[in-house]
Amino acid sequence: MPMDTEKLNSDFGIEGKAYFDRGRGGLPRLTLRGAGTAEVYLHGAHVTSFRHGDEPPLLRMSAQSNFAPGLPIRGGIPVCFPWFGAHPDNEELPIHGLARLMEWEVSGIDDTGNGTVSASFSLESTPWTRKRWPADFRLEYTVTVGEELDVRLEVLNRQKQAFDFTCAFHPYFAVSDIRNVRVTGLEGVGYRSKVIGSDELFTEDGPIELAGETDRTYLDTTSDCEIIDPGMNRWIRISKSGSRSTVVWNPWVDKAERMEDFGDEEWTGMICVETANARGNEVHLEPGGSHTMRATYRTVPM
Ligand code: BG6
Repeated sequence: MPMDTEKLNSDFGIEGKAYFDRGRGGLPRLTLRGAGTAEVYLHGAHVTSFRHGDEPPLLRMSAQSNFAPGLPIRGGIPVCFPWFGAHPDNEELPIHGLARLMEWEVSGIDDTGNGTVSASFSLESTPWTRKRWPADFRLEYTVTVGEELDVRLEVLNRQKQAFDFTCAFHPYFAVSDIRNVRVTGLEGVGYRSKVIGSDELFTEDGPIELAGETDRTYLDTTSDCEIIDPGMNRWIRISKSGSRSTVVWNPWVDKAERMEDFGDEEWTGMICVETANARGNEVHLEPGGSHTMRATYRTVPM
């Protein structure tokens, strides 16, 4: 049943702070206005934009993104659950899990009064999810918009057996030119490279500078990261909790050309630094248990 935006506004809207309409592809979209402004689609509980004041946007959206039921949105912040990347033993299942393909429900919106507005979205297992991932779960995803953007995903196990999952926030950060940015915070941390395609663990001592297709999963790291972008005169600070992996991804020239929902040149203006629990850092959840992963994104002028 498609969501009725009039009803959403009467149930949850807050004048000047939280407003629903239909966005691209006619999909229900929430605009949140605190000290910063964000847009969130109920499809995937997908944040597609965030901006603080007059600063340049935090996130990049692909001009060629799909906005359609059952297809992922390209750009912004996809939420990956209950698996990150390819499914471990069934390649017919969608990459990055099910949550980004489904319409979430709104569970509440709060204006906390100091330039901060918070919206919560929920998603529960259905016959469709159980067929692809046989577990009973509930997700609660909270997006808080103030001077910074904060996202929090709580996973609850609602069945009588334990389950394991992987997950990620997959933000496409806007950068001036990927060839001139550096990422700090992962010095000396072991990573696997999907581009190299082996299980070998590599490490680097200094900040990360990208010079080609990059698809790295850093394991056993709880460190915060920074994207240093002299071309935009800013740092993006990424603080996290409940996450033991960080993924760094840019498709570069050839892969960008192969991706049909991504412009051929768009790779130059983005980098994904993903707060994750990836394979090797699975989360184990006992019956009735819950796990919360959180990331806070803040831009700091140089
Ligand atoms: C990254 C993965 O997180 O997401 C990459 O590490 C993948 O391997 C990328 O290509 C984009 O995934 P998708 O499914 O959104 O094209």
